Amino acid sequence: MPLSILQKWLAVASSRPHADTHPYLARAVGHTLANGLTGAIALRREGLPGRHQTSVSSRRAAFEMRHLNLVEATSRAAFGLTADNARSTLEGRLNTAVRYISPTLSAVLVAFSGGSVWTLAARLLRLRKTAGAIRAGNLTPPAPLKLQIETTDVCNLQCVHCRREKLEDMNTTTLGLSVFERIISDIEPLYVNLAGFGEPLIDREIVQKLIFLRNKGIRSSVPTNGTYIRNDKRDELAAELPDILQLSIDGATKESFEAIRKRGNFDAIVENYRKICAMRASGQTRPNTTIRVACALQRRNLFDYRAMYALVRSLDGVDSFGLVPVSHGAAQAAEIPDKHEVLALHRELGEAITVAESDDEKSFYKLWRSVSGEWLTDKIRACSDASIDQARCSIPWFSSYIDAKRRVYPCCYLTRTEHVMGTLRTDGSGFAEIWAGPRYRAFRSNHLSARSKLSGCRKCPRNDVSMLSTLAKLHWFLPRAKPSG
Ligand SMILES: C[S@@+](CC[C@H](N)C(=O)[O-])C[C@H]1O[C@@H](n2cnc3c(N)ncnc32)[C@H](O)[C@@H]1O
Ligand code: SF4
Ligand code: SF4
Repeated sequence: MPLSILQKWLAVASSRPHADTHPYLARAVGHTLANGLTGAIALRREGLPGRHQTSVSSRRAAFEMRHLNLVEATSRAAFGLTADNARSTLEGRLNTAVRYISPTLSAVLVAFSGGSVWTLAARLLRLRKTAGAIRAGNLTPPAPLKLQIETTDVCNLQCVHCRREKLEDMNTTTLGLSVFERIISDIEPLYVNLAGFGEPLIDREIVQKLIFLRNKGIRSSVPTNGTYIRNDKRDELAAELPDILQLSIDGATKESFEAIRKRGNFDAIVENYRKICAMRASGQTRPNTTIRVACALQRRNLFDYRAMYALVRSLDGVDSFGLVPVSHGAAQAAEIPDKHEVLALHRELGEAITVAESDDEKSFYKLWRSVSGEWLTDKIRACSDASIDQARCSIPWFSSYIDAKRRVYPCCYLTRTEHVMGTLRTDGSGFAEIWAGPRYRAFRSNHLSARSKLSGCRKCPRNDVSMLSTLAKLHWFLPRAKPSG
């Protein structure tokens, strides 16, 4: 069974609240659809409250991080419901059978199915159709499996690396609950990332939106700048924690943090993080959820590796840490370190790795080195148009981005560019027409034939060639979708 495909494409577990069924894996697998290209390190928890142990990985990625401990997860997860559950007859048998074949596969299926065979079957069918459409380059694929929704474009901070600072007409709109519900009900995605160029926790209805998603068995993630995880909001959020809560910390000292996250108060935000993490560690947050810390690496926090390690380790209740280099195009050029700075960092890191006191610490510094090393190679800039045209991205076939003003874009990188695919009606309806409409079809067609000519896509590092070659091996399983003109 092609696990790599499951990891890439089936990684959207239902979040039905059956707390004990798949404690680790549902979280772990849930990461994958969300993720592009990042370095990440997972802090594996051995019970709550518990000690962290380092595991995993350093992989390239953009914007979000990944960690996936399938092998570890298999010892804790089973397909279907737990043995003492009354509904376990059919599912229990399947559980036993699949676990017999492969415990890892069983764990993946649990995360994907939410513990129900029927949900699993429906989702596998949908996945199969989408995979077929991607492989065939069908210009009108089935409705997207993943959505990114900017629930608000209002933000209280002015981060120096954020593209928001270059965008006009911000701080104006928050998507109402009924509009949000209409969008979700029309599309029925499997995974929703409530993220854009605003601060999601400013949205007063964010918790209602999370409840709506959970009731529909849709996985969710929310990044936050942490300012509003306080008072009643903290308790509300804890009770309805998204499947993935991402805490942004772009600076591990007061000096670097406040230089980057302008208007942010380092002490207050870290205290907010500490409290929600402590609630998590003592079991006061919704079960089967993940908390991760994310840092956008840039000039002003380049040398924060020691302080960041200490800070992340001090937050009991955190599952993983992700590091992403701020990218050309998105951030101000001044925020990107030059080669000399990166080389100086690497000399320091070499020393730090040698004297690190634990494997955890060593892995953390290696991650820092590998992510910052991307600025030394800058492969994308060096690419020819021909090679970019061959580097296909399948995002427009399975995912979509909707901003707070109801505009639809293929992905968040393209927000406020000419690649607007349409605008939803004021009640949130109309997605299906846009998804199948001439603009989206033309965009997909251009993607197939001349990605290098699409502004934004040319510089984007996303490359799904290996995933496509895996899909090619599955041609016998996938439906035949004809490329449509
Ligand atoms: C755009 S913000 C939106 C959510 C929330 N306001 C926050 O700051 O977490 C989501 C994440 O994107 C990161 N980010 C913003 N601009 C970036 C850039 N140019 N390159 C990489 N990451 C960036 C932020 O640091 C943050 O962790
Ligand atoms: S990174 Fe987040 S907090 Fe900072 S300006 Fe952008 S949206 Fe606001
Ligand atoms: S290649 Fe284009 S559509 Fe794909 S992720 Fe990059 S910017 Fe978005």
